[in-house]
Amino acid sequence: MKEFHSFNRRFVLRTKSPDFERSMVIKMKKDRWWKNAVIYQIYPRSFQDSNGDGIGDIPGIISRLDYLQELGINAIWLSPVYRSPQDDNGYDISDYQDIDPMFGTINDMEELITEAKKREIRIIMDLVLNHTSDEHAWFLEAKRSRTNPYHDYYVWRDGVEGTPPNDMRASFGGSAWEWVPEVEQYYFHQFSIKQPDLNWENPKVRRELYDMILWWMDKGVGGFRLDVIDQIAKEPDKKITNNGPKLHEYIREMSKETFQKGDIITVGEAWGANPERAKLYSNPDNSEFSMVFQFEHIGLDQQEGKDKWDLAPLDFVKLKTILAKWQKEMFQVGWNSLFWNNHDLPRIVSRWGNDKEYRVEAAKMFAILLHGMQGTPYIYQGEELGMTNVRYALEEYRDIETLNLYKERIEMGYTPEEIMRSIYAKGRDNARTPMHWDDSEHAGFTQGTPWIKVNPNYKRINAKNELADENSIFHIYQKLIQLRKTHEIFVKGEFELLFADHPELFVYTRTWENQVLLVAANFYGRKVPFSMPQEYNRNKKCLISNYDNHEEHYLQPYEAVMYLLE
Ligand code: GLC
Ligand code: CA
Repeated sequence: MKEFHSFNRRFVLRTKSPDFERSMVIKMKKDRWWKNAVIYQIYPRSFQDSNGDGIGDIPGIISRLDYLQELGINAIWLSPVYRSPQDDNGYDISDYQDIDPMFGTINDMEELITEAKKREIRIIMDLVLNHTSDEHAWFLEAKRSRTNPYHDYYVWRDGVEGTPPNDMRASFGGSAWEWVPEVEQYYFHQFSIKQPDLNWENPKVRRELYDMILWWMDKGVGGFRLDVIDQIAKEPDKKITNNGPKLHEYIREMSKETFQKGDIITVGEAWGANPERAKLYSNPDNSEFSMVFQFEHIGLDQQEGKDKWDLAPLDFVKLKTILAKWQKEMFQVGWNSLFWNNHDLPRIVSRWGNDKEYRVEAAKMFAILLHGMQGTPYIYQGEELGMTNVRYALEEYRDIETLNLYKERIEMGYTPEEIMRSIYAKGRDNARTPMHWDDSEHAGFTQGTPWIKVNPNYKRINAKNELADENSIFHIYQKLIQLRKTHEIFVKGEFELLFADHPELFVYTRTWENQVLLVAANFYGRKVPFSMPQEYNRNKKCLISNYDNHEEHYLQPYEAVMYLLE
């Protein structure tokens, strides 16, 4: 805010031509406060239980706000806490304007917003607008009859039982069409059978959703994360799921009717985004969202043309190319979210790093590498502790995606061993095991029986240990957050990838005015020769690193350094 005002003054003094004026207005918009914010994602059922039922809840989150304040984050993205049958852990909402009793009450939610505000932390709610639960009042009405006023809130096609309108598949397995005998029609669902798709073509649906968003804004919510937003404008007759023709028209309407009426930070989840589309989503004119959360850098460890479960080694050079592409394409015309993890992805330190002898180094390397880039960084709960993936027996898994996958692949003839290998590597429960607070029973997460087993390594890897050690992963994240606040180059510097084809090193610069930020990281476990390119061998100050002893001409296993050159 301060920055905005001083800019404004300069702008008034130096106004010259209409053209100049226009460029300055654009520039001011570019300097929105959230550009140096860091967002922390909480998966509520796994964060902190307060009442011993084994499920994390809102009072639990409130009790940990001091911890988050110490870390230094500016906003919490809260995965859904609305009333829900929990078929997809809350991404199946049966009442948008109520809190699930499992998580607490609406009063708890209000208290969370207030308590967070006291610590200068915003609450970002997860908006699931593509679908509701099949137990939502709208759907219960919709399926009564074809003439019910709510019928057209969902996507129906006539049919004969046994022959779905087409062969489209749902994301969690099976057909995307489900028969309802009462109306003799199929409804469309891109996710589970219990997540019927909303019909965005119906203006009444859109109005209901906007009113609901305004209701939350009134409660003091600071932002929204828009779940699978690229799928709302589906056209199943043409087999279009994401990026439907009316997508951006809908988003712009929603933004105008809701977000633009307040001081709201928004992030659109878009698996199918390319840079062109992302520039629309995150246009600095604020017509859609603040930023885009896209995944092009994520799926680089699967077989070409197959799905995420068909494992392949990471294509590291491609990873760099893709990250660099997004850095360059969005420069000054859009805004990226920076992340390695969320509640749908395995833990990065296990996935592409090392969760054994170099776990600490690797976790810090991922942090330094990501936080030096342009965009808003996200930390997923436990990432700041270097939490790892798990290997459980099948009956310990809870995620609907994982359980459906197992059934489906057994039928397809895969062996249990093959399927389990995929689940260990990519299953969403890797990220959903309870947060490790300390070394007491169940990691201090609950006094009862946790809804999902705690990762057995919690005695070693936990927040208590991390806070006690000044060299810990936690403290690296804390420092990175501070650096972003005190050095404008993090927000403004222009990105350049160096050694693009190097098979082990990830090196880049950010340039702004007379400064250069240089980040050099060894992505693998072998000591690699590395010399600073000649032109950067000047007046350098090390801002942060993950080894005490940097050896000249080498990067040690998973070593990462960040220099500021004046
Ligand atoms: C998003 C969520 C995921 C959920 C899906 C359906 O991808 O992140 O957890 O299952 O949407 O709502
Ligand atoms: Ca609880």
